[in-house]
Amino acid sequence: MLVASGLVKHYGGVTALDGVGITLDAGEVHALVGENGAGKSTLVKIVSGAVRPEGGALELDGAPVRFAGARQAAAQGVAIVSQELMTYDDLTVLENLFPYGGLVSTREMRRLAGPVLAGLGIDPPPHARAGELPLADRQLLEICRALLLEPRVLILDEPTSALPRDAAVRLAGVIRRLAARGLAVLFISHFLEEVMRIADRVTVLRDGRVVLAGADAADVSLDSLVGAMLGRPAAGPAATPGAPSEAEPGARAGAEPAAAPHRPGGAAVSLTGVTVPGRLRDVSLTAAGGEIVGLAGLQGAGHLAVLDAVCGRARPSSGSVWLPGGRAPRSARHAVTSGVAFVSGDRKGRGLMLDKALWENVTAVSWLGQGRGGFLPRRSRLVGRARAHLERLRVRGDVRAGAGDLSGGNQQKVVLAKWLDAAPSVLALDDPTRGVDVGARAELHGIVRGLAAEGKAVLIASSDLAELVELCHRVVVFQRGRVVGSLAGGRLTEPALSLAMNAGFAGSAR
Ligand SMILES: Nc1ncnc2c1ncn2[C@@H]1O[C@H](COP(=O)(O)OP(=O)(O)OP(=O)(O)O)[C@@H](O)[C@H]1O
Ligand SMILES: [Mg+2]
Repeated sequence: MLVASGLVKHYGGVTALDGVGITLDAGEVHALVGENGAGKSTLVKIVSGAVRPEGGALELDGAPVRFAGARQAAAQGVAIVSQELMTYDDLTVLENLFPYGGLVSTREMRRLAGPVLAGLGIDPPPHARAGELPLADRQLLEICRALLLEPRVLILDEPTSALPRDAAVRLAGVIRRLAARGLAVLFISHFLEEVMRIADRVTVLRDGRVVLAGADAADVSLDSLVGAMLGRPAAGPAATPGAPSEAEPGARAGAEPAAAPHRPGGAAVSLTGVTVPGRLRDVSLTAAGGEIVGLAGLQGAGHLAVLDAVCGRARPSSGSVWLPGGRAPRSARHAVTSGVAFVSGDRKGRGLMLDKALWENVTAVSWLGQGRGGFLPRRSRLVGRARAHLERLRVRGDVRAGAGDLSGGNQQKVVLAKWLDAAPSVLALDDPTRGVDVGARAELHGIVRGLAAEGKAVLIASSDLAELVELCHRVVVFQRGRVVGSLAGGRLTEPALSLAMNAGFAGSAR
């Protein structure tokens, strides 16, 4: 149905694609995988008309095509849901779904959108502003927008990175049904198990080249996939911590040391009897210095409100929040200067200044604490410091490059680097590895463990339950604004966590 061949694309001195081709058949789900910065998004932006290649060709149904823009590609049946959210936050749900919908009545829009939204499992109020919806719903809204174009080729660039598991499973069902109807679906994901479950074929990119071309998914092992991505021969599990173990969800549970190493000298963050109207009711919990505490729940359960309270963005009507040193966060800025780092998967909205250089982003937070009293660190020192953090996280990109020019996963690493530079005492993490490749994910987990071992308190929410099980000493589960229990040690498994989030603890001991 669609053939791309010999695509070449440079950004300045960076070779994003170096002669890449891919073929998409009608009725198949074709997965595209590779490390952060491998060129995946660049490839699909070219295929969907958003980016012009310097070389190469596209064919649709055997005829050469050249798209002048994304809108033209969509008109010819090629629709894309891009990696970075493109919802118009100030427009309503319906306006987002029908961006060119001037001639369609509201009633007609609702009639068309209803079944598609239902199939994706969301039911947002049609006149709500998109900006008010949770990240996961905004992601699904974009997928709905693409489906309403009734495309023949549907491209999804990391559609599940912001989705909770149930929504991801539902989306997989939708994707399989679309393929069964004859669509060609090109699907990018860093969740390799998910890739293996839903893809018919797999293409792997590495450093702007194809290293595995449209292989039958049934013939590819998870290990060989990771090997192709990272450019090493398929080998034993030791080489990539985190990656191969993902083949057995839940299997690692209980293997990690469960007891939190208590460090009396370390920082602690605690909530006592905290109520935030409409979000939290009488919540008490503590993360001691050295402890990694997970926060889990379905949408709106209150786990994210805990992060907001710790970061000074939600004001309790009763109860109190204590940061290290016995301070209560008076504002978001005060929380930062009190040593709280907040890393969000919503990097575009909350983490990065996209028009600023990497080094400026990385050193931005520590400015709040330093620079007072007239001492401004020299620019070359800041650049050097930023470079060291970025090298540690293996960010591909020059410190002086613009943050907006990085691949999605590399942007996420910059958000983390910024907080490492600020040397926080408390880490509040919300989906910190969203869109980050398997190697870097393991690296980031190692850094978080290291910070905890230095005595920092870590609170983490994640839509990726495997991440909570791998990383946390203990996971506190929320429902309707309340704590309903917690899981630790051998009881902390993905199935147990999922059950507790959905059904509570049904009378079992806390
Ligand atoms: N607009 C741009 N300007 C400059 N460089 C860019 C731009 N877009 C992408 N690049 C560079 O091209 C390379 C490939 O990026 P691309 O976004 O295609 O990676 P990716 O495989 O999608 O990664 P990720 O998994 O992190 O999303 C990266 O080195 C990136 O920094
Ligand atoms: Mg990308």
